[in-house]
Amino acid sequence: MKRILITGAAGQIGKAVRAGLRGGYPLIRLLDVAPLGAAADGEEVVTADIRDSAAMERATAGIDCVVHLAGQSTEGEWEKVLQLNIEGCYNVFEAARHSGVKRIVFASSNHAVGFHRRERFIDDRVLPRPDTRYGISKVFGEALGRHYADKHGISVACLRIGTFIVPDRPKDARQLLTWISHRDMVQLVRRCIDHPDYHFVVVYGVSNNLRSRWDNTNARFLGYRPQDDSEKFAAEILARGEKENEIAAQFHGGFYTPMEFSGDPEKIE
Ligand SMILES: NC(=O)c1ccc[n+]([C@@H]2O[C@H](COP(=O)([O-])OP(=O)(O)OC[C@H]3O[C@@H](n4cnc5c(N)ncnc54)[C@H](O)[C@@H]3O)[C@@H](O)[C@H]2O)c1
Repeated sequence: MKRILITGAAGQIGKAVRAGLRGGYPLIRLLDVAPLGAAADGEEVVTADIRDSAAMERATAGIDCVVHLAGQSTEGEWEKVLQLNIEGCYNVFEAARHSGVKRIVFASSNHAVGFHRRERFIDDRVLPRPDTRYGISKVFGEALGRHYADKHGISVACLRIGTFIVPDRPKDARQLLTWISHRDMVQLVRRCIDHPDYHFVVVYGVSNNLRSRWDNTNARFLGYRPQDDSEKFAAEILARGEKENEIAAQFHGGFYTPMEFSGDPEKIE
């Protein structure tokens, strides 16, 4: 994989991945609607909207691997989620297919499986259990990935990212489970780009956290060896004695699960 397109390159993950991959590939094309600054050596900067299919066809031309980060990155109104994470995501996959792209690395989210009970370890094979409209859109993105792999032979990796934040440290007790450090995120993306051969894979984007509740064995074949563990922040965070919301504490998706909640937690087995 020599020519890489990163969508959403001006975002928080995009900035870290841009910096981390710089110089590692002959061409890194960076795309966003937000300002991207000047292109460094080996970079190209493109201002484009993932909702614009013609622009996406141009942006994917000559690209080997798309790292698709752009979109609505939190829970939001349906119109936004629909336009960015459903229609926009579809445009990216379609443009990639037309342009002969070989691989797509898709930024999915733990919120695709947020309503699984936290007392259970979950792996890449659990059924979707989205906790928000945002989570539903990530299930859609993973389904797109599965489809484009099976139907069109594009190699696809879906990264169920936990918590990537600036500054680079977990903020609360749940993030001790879900945190991914910046360098681990860069490593994971790099491994997904560089691995010689996979058809379709789902992995968790998480550091080597002692308290993680995600079985990420599936990421090992990629060569992903996370270097960070949130445990070094645990004592300080837990000493604050903050109590997690009662519903949030029961599920993997944490604070996304009680949003607009009108169900019965006891029925969510
Ligand atoms: N940060 C996390 O903890 C986390 C967790 C799970 C999944 N993710 C996913 O990772 C990806 C990146 O997350 P982030 O935290 O960097 O988010 P972010 O909001 O910082 O970055 C998203 C970027 O996408 C760009 N964008 C938005 N709409 C666009 C459009 N129509 N066309 C082109 N670009 C557009 C934005 O300008 C922004 O730069 C997202 O898909 C998000 O859902 C992030």
